Amino acid sequence: MKVILLVLVWVVTNLGDAVKINKLRVPDIIKHGSQAILDCDFTLDDSETDLVVKWYFNKSLVYQWIPGTKNRPQSLGVLKDRVNLEYQASPDANSKHRAIHIVRTGPDLSGDYTCSVSTMESEDRQTKGMLVLVSEKYFELKRLKADEGFIRVQCRADGIYPAPLISLHSQQREIPEAAVESRKLNHLYEISAQVTMPELERPEEFSCKLHIPQANYTTRRETVFYPGLASATSNNYWLTISMSLVSCIMGLHYLGVH
Ligand SMILES: *[C@@H]1O[C@H](CO)[C@@H](O)[C@H](O)[C@H]1NC(C)=O
Ligand SMILES: *[C@@H]1O[C@H](CO)[C@@H](O)[C@H](O)[C@H]1NC(C)=O
Repeated sequence: MKVILLVLVWVVTNLGDAVKINKLRVPDIIKHGSQAILDCDFTLDDSETDLVVKWYFNKSLVYQWIPGTKNRPQSLGVLKDRVNLEYQASPDANSKHRAIHIVRTGPDLSGDYTCSVSTMESEDRQTKGMLVLVSEKYFELKRLKADEGFIRVQCRADGIYPAPLISLHSQQREIPEAAVESRKLNHLYEISAQVTMPELERPEEFSCKLHIPQANYTTRRETVFYPGLASATSNNYWLTISMSLVSCIMGLHYLGVH
């Protein structure tokens, strides 16, 4: 009789959702440098024992909390030393540390996050992706040396994540397809597009566009190039140098150095 009752209890508890994740909140996209809260809202039956909350990043364990022990949650792997372990998502003793508060985000944290909530009797898990967007550090459109009668335009960007699409346009004409090169350095992309075409006959405005479809991110640079000039950028460069020289001389004058 006792055995039958135990079996019955076992069947009943296993039919219901003993542990259930109600909502997994992981931001789709965050900007590099901002903080993120990844929350795993779950409910469980009172009868459940030995609750363990775990988070995985791309299938590796990165966070673990065992509410039954007095131990603090732990962050591991890529999340080691990047999480505020004091963060409380709920006053409930079983849910207090269910969320991860990432204080130091970076492009390397882009990927799939899985929350797993398990007890002696059951388990539930859910996965969601997060993208950490890094805006370009450098982005320039310039004219390079080319053979007589030609113009070579280059657009270059670096320090961006994820890999952007790059395109070159002219306001005045259709331009040939650009040669695109891209490489990854420390989780960040460096990309360039280059095109060679017949020399300008009149001033011509070029633009370069970077686009990251996953993040709906677009940014542009526009520059007017003039016929005959080797490079518009080098003009700016000399202007900057002469301006610095002027301010330096004025500074010395102000300090009484002659
Ligand atoms: C994590 O997974 C995503 C998606 O599969 C992948 O793009 C990313 O490079 C992975 N990140 C790491 C650090 O393994
Ligand atoms: C992308 O950005 C544009 C302009 O900022 C906006 O109008 C559009 O709704 C966005 N699309 C998505 C899918 O977020």
